[in-house]
Amino acid sequence: MKPTKILFVCLGNICRSPSAAGVMKKLATGLPLEIQSAGTAGYHIGELPDPRTRSHARKRGYELVSRAQQFDPARHFEQFDRIIAMDANNLSDLKAMDREKKYHHKLSLMTDYCESIEVGGVPDPYYSGPEGFERVLDILEDACAGLLKDLENSLPSPLRGRRPLR
Ligand code: 4NP
Repeated sequence: MKPTKILFVCLGNICRSPSAAGVMKKLATGLPLEIQSAGTAGYHIGELPDPRTRSHARKRGYELVSRAQQFDPARHFEQFDRIIAMDANNLSDLKAMDREKKYHHKLSLMTDYCESIEVGGVPDPYYSGPEGFERVLDILEDACAGLLKDLENSLPSPLRGRRPLR
Protein backbone atom coordinates (compact mmCIF):
# COMPACT_ATOMS: atom_id res chain seq x y z
CA MET A 1 0.00 0.00 0.00
CA LYS A 2 1.22 3.46 -0.85
CA PRO A 3 2.09 5.27 2.38
CA THR A 4 0.81 8.76 3.11
CA LYS A 5 3.84 11.03 3.11
CA ILE A 6 3.95 13.75 5.74
CA LEU A 7 6.48 16.56 6.02
CA PHE A 8 6.65 18.71 9.16
CA VAL A 9 8.19 22.13 8.58
CA CYS A 10 9.65 24.75 10.96
CA LEU A 11 12.39 27.36 10.55
CA GLY A 12 15.66 25.67 11.48
CA ASN A 13 14.61 21.98 11.41
CA ILE A 14 16.44 21.37 14.68
CA CYS A 15 13.70 21.96 17.30
CA ARG A 16 10.00 21.84 16.46
CA SER A 17 9.64 19.89 13.22
CA PRO A 18 12.01 17.02 14.13
CA SER A 19 10.15 16.77 17.44
CA ALA A 20 6.82 16.65 15.59
CA ALA A 21 8.20 13.86 13.38
CA GLY A 22 9.44 11.92 16.42
CA VAL A 23 6.13 12.23 18.27
CA MET A 24 4.10 11.29 15.19
CA LYS A 25 6.32 8.32 14.29
CA LYS A 26 5.84 6.85 17.75
CA LEU A 27 2.12 7.55 17.88
CA ALA A 28 1.45 6.11 14.42
CA THR A 29 3.65 3.01 14.65
CA GLY A 30 2.29 0.38 12.27
CA LEU A 31 0.32 2.78 10.09
CA PRO A 32 1.36 3.31 6.45
CA LEU A 33 2.91 6.72 6.97
CA GLU A 34 6.24 8.09 5.80
CA ILE A 35 7.32 10.98 7.99
CA GLN A 36 10.09 13.53 7.53
CA SER A 37 10.82 17.10 8.60
CA ALA A 38 12.46 20.15 7.04
CA GLY A 39 13.25 23.82 7.74
CA THR A 40 12.45 26.85 5.63
CA ALA A 41 15.97 28.11 6.44
CA GLY A 42 19.25 26.36 5.73
CA TYR A 43 21.30 27.43 8.79
CA HIS A 44 21.53 23.97 10.29
CA ILE A 45 21.61 21.62 7.28
CA GLY A 46 23.06 18.23 8.22
CA GLU A 47 22.84 18.79 11.98
CA LEU A 48 21.12 16.59 14.53
CA PRO A 49 18.28 18.27 16.44
CA ASP A 50 19.35 20.82 19.07
CA PRO A 51 20.78 19.06 22.18
CA ARG A 52 18.05 20.65 24.35
CA THR A 53 15.35 19.37 21.98
CA ARG A 54 16.89 15.90 22.03
CA SER A 55 17.18 15.78 25.78
CA HIS A 56 13.62 16.94 26.50
CA ALA A 57 12.27 14.56 23.85
CA ARG A 58 14.32 11.65 25.22
CA LYS A 59 12.74 12.12 28.66
CA ARG A 60 9.36 11.46 27.04
CA GLY A 61 10.61 8.45 25.09
CA TYR A 62 11.39 10.04 21.72
CA GLU A 63 14.86 9.42 20.29
CA LEU A 64 15.47 12.14 17.69
CA VAL A 65 18.16 11.22 15.17
CA SER A 66 17.14 13.06 12.00
CA ARG A 67 19.53 15.40 10.17
CA ALA A 68 18.34 18.88 9.27
CA GLN A 69 17.36 19.54 5.68
CA GLN A 70 16.04 22.69 4.02
CA PHE A 71 12.61 22.65 2.45
CA ASP A 72 13.11 22.34 -1.30
CA PRO A 73 10.09 23.59 -3.28
CA ALA A 74 11.35 21.85 -6.42
CA ARG A 75 11.03 18.42 -4.76
CA HIS A 76 9.06 18.51 -1.55
CA PHE A 77 5.77 19.98 -2.79
CA GLU A 78 5.42 17.02 -5.17
CA GLN A 79 6.94 14.38 -2.90
CA PHE A 80 4.70 14.86 0.16
CA ASP A 81 0.95 14.47 0.55
CA ARG A 82 0.72 16.71 3.59
CA ILE A 83 3.07 19.54 4.48
CA ILE A 84 2.44 20.73 8.02
CA ALA A 85 3.85 24.05 9.23
CA MET A 86 4.71 24.63 12.88
CA ASP A 87 3.73 28.31 12.97
CA ALA A 88 2.10 31.02 10.87
CA ASN A 89 5.44 32.31 9.58
CA ASN A 90 6.45 28.86 8.38
CA LEU A 91 3.06 28.51 6.70
CA SER A 92 3.28 31.87 4.93
CA ASP A 93 6.86 31.09 3.82
CA LEU A 94 5.62 27.82 2.31
CA LYS A 95 2.72 29.57 0.61
CA ALA A 96 5.10 32.14 -0.87
CA MET A 97 7.17 29.32 -2.39
CA ASP A 98 4.03 27.99 -4.10
CA ARG A 99 3.29 31.04 -6.20
CA GLU A 100 0.86 29.28 -8.50
CA LYS A 101 -1.03 27.85 -5.49
CA LYS A 102 -0.68 24.40 -6.98
CA TYR A 103 0.07 22.79 -3.61
CA HIS A 104 -1.85 24.97 -1.18
CA HIS A 105 -4.29 22.09 -0.59
CA LYS A 106 -1.43 20.07 0.95
CA LEU A 107 -0.54 22.78 3.46
CA SER A 108 -1.83 23.07 7.01
CA LEU A 109 -0.90 24.50 10.41
CA MET A 110 0.12 21.98 13.08
CA THR A 111 -1.87 23.58 15.88
CA ASP A 112 -5.09 23.34 13.87
CA TYR A 113 -5.01 19.63 14.83
CA CYS A 114 -4.81 20.35 18.58
CA GLU A 115 -7.62 18.86 20.61
CA SER A 116 -7.02 20.28 24.10
CA ILE A 117 -4.49 23.10 23.89
CA GLU A 118 -5.67 26.35 22.30
CA VAL A 119 -2.70 28.01 20.63
CA GLY A 120 -2.14 29.62 17.25
CA GLY A 121 1.20 27.98 16.43
CA VAL A 122 4.03 25.98 17.99
CA PRO A 123 6.23 28.67 19.61
CA ASP A 124 9.90 28.72 18.62
CA PRO A 125 11.79 27.44 21.69
CA TYR A 126 15.29 28.32 20.43
CA TYR A 127 15.80 31.32 22.72
CA SER A 128 13.67 30.00 25.58
CA GLY A 129 14.48 28.08 28.71
CA PRO A 130 13.57 24.45 29.46
CA GLU A 131 9.88 25.35 29.85
CA GLY A 132 9.78 26.38 26.16
CA PHE A 133 10.95 22.93 25.08
CA GLU A 134 8.44 21.21 27.35
CA ARG A 135 5.66 23.42 26.00
CA VAL A 136 6.60 22.45 22.43
CA LEU A 137 6.27 18.77 23.32
CA ASP A 138 2.96 19.31 25.13
CA ILE A 139 1.54 21.05 22.05
CA LEU A 140 2.97 18.48 19.63
CA GLU A 141 1.61 15.50 21.56
CA ASP A 142 -1.84 17.09 21.52
CA ALA A 143 -1.64 18.05 17.83
CA CYS A 144 -0.30 14.65 16.74
CA ALA A 145 -3.21 12.88 18.43
CA GLY A 146 -5.61 15.09 16.45
CA LEU A 147 -3.61 14.64 13.25
CA LEU A 148 -3.71 10.88 13.69
CA LYS A 149 -7.51 10.95 13.84
CA ASP A 150 -7.64 13.16 10.77
CA LEU A 151 -5.35 10.78 8.88
CA GLU A 152 -7.29 7.71 9.93
CA ASN A 153 -10.37 9.22 8.33
CA SER A 154 -8.53 9.45 5.03
CA LEU A 155 -6.91 5.98 5.16
CA PRO A 156 -8.36 3.05 3.17
CA SER A 157 -11.27 1.54 5.11
CA PRO A 158 -9.55 -1.71 6.40
CA LEU A 159 -7.14 0.46 8.39
CA ARG A 160 -9.75 2.89 9.62
CA GLY A 161 -10.54 2.61 13.29
CA ARG A 162 -7.55 0.30 13.81
CA ARG A 163 -5.60 1.21 16.92
CA PRO A 164 -1.93 1.92 16.20
CA LEU A 165 0.62 -0.14 18.16
CA ARG A 166 1.99 1.71 21.16
P1 4NP B 1 13.10 25.42 14.90
O1 4NP B 1 13.87 26.40 15.91
O2 4NP B 1 12.61 26.29 13.77
O3 4NP B 1 11.99 24.88 15.74
O4 4NP B 1 14.11 24.39 14.46
C1 4NP B 1 14.92 27.23 15.51
C2 4NP B 1 16.19 26.71 15.39
C3 4NP B 1 17.24 27.52 15.02
C4 4NP B 1 17.02 28.87 14.79
C5 4NP B 1 15.75 29.39 14.91
C6 4NP B 1 14.70 28.56 15.27
N1 4NP B 1 18.11 29.73 14.44
O5 4NP B 1 17.89 30.93 14.32
O6 4NP B 1 19.23 29.23 14.28
